[in-house]
Amino acid sequence: MFTPAPNSAAMLARRDRMPVINANKKTNPIKHPAAKGPRIFCDSAVKADILPLLKAGLIHGITTNPTLLKKAGAKSWKEAKAIMKELCALLYPLPVSLELTELTEEKMVKQATELGALGKNAIIKVPMGGYPAVVDGGDPFTGLKVIRRLWEKGIKTNVTLIFNTTQAVWAANAGATYISPFLGRVPDYINKNDKKGLTPGNSLYWMGEGEMKSANSEYVASGGEVRDAGARLIFEIANVYANYGITTEILAASIRNPVQVTECLLAGADILTVPANVLATVADHPLSDSGMVGFLEDSKAFSA
Ligand code: G3P
Repeated sequence: MFTPAPNSAAMLARRDRMPVINANKKTNPIKHPAAKGPRIFCDSAVKADILPLLKAGLIHGITTNPTLLKKAGAKSWKEAKAIMKELCALLYPLPVSLELTELTEEKMVKQATELGALGKNAIIKVPMGGYPAVVDGGDPFTGLKVIRRLWEKGIKTNVTLIFNTTQAVWAANAGATYISPFLGRVPDYINKNDKKGLTPGNSLYWMGEGEMKSANSEYVASGGEVRDAGARLIFEIANVYANYGITTEILAASIRNPVQVTECLLAGADILTVPANVLATVADHPLSDSGMVGFLEDSKAFSA
């Protein structure tokens, strides 16, 4: 399991700048013990999954993307927009991330306005990169240009598909409100692509031919357990942001299991976006189950 270094003064100052999520009440003499606790979002577009989590007070927002909208049943842009609009209304005033699907700067800026009109709590999700992979002659800096244009217009962004610290820094410099490092996909990739006998994480460090294709910092790619590589990414970004007083929030994404939830909290994530099936288990533990069975059994001694 990921074991971070002790928090630096800069990291502690960063925590101090985070918003209050559990406000104290004048009429209540007990101050809330987790006033600045971590925020948890649900990574889903399915209303039936989100509603019980919302009612239980477990979540402080949601994130969506085209894959999640497809899973929620959207078969056209019109249907996708209807789902997004309904989710914005359901969550209001909590934030809802809605992803751009256009691929060129002007169209993306225009679509941001269209998505922004779906709810005052809409956050515009902008893919960091990948444009040359999907557009012939695509501009690799499209995402960064759009982030800056939206910042200039006072529109909040969540920059998605972040896989290394330099992407996180450039996104922040462009004006990102949040960045979403996909931590779960990092060990997935390494496990699938690493060449045996070389340093663990070699596939992530050299993603392509030649030195110019170096794709990650050495810290994330190697030097620890492969399964912790995603948490190391969060830790690295958190420390760099802290060192430079960057207030862009780190929204840890692509979480696979409860262990990664804990690791993200240890690593300094500001917000975690977690799939509904993982969130559904947060109150459970096998020892909680057997403990309850024991208490119930023993309470029968005095319940008559
Ligand atoms: O929020 C990003 C997330 O939906 C990506 O998750 O499971 O497709 O890697 P995954």
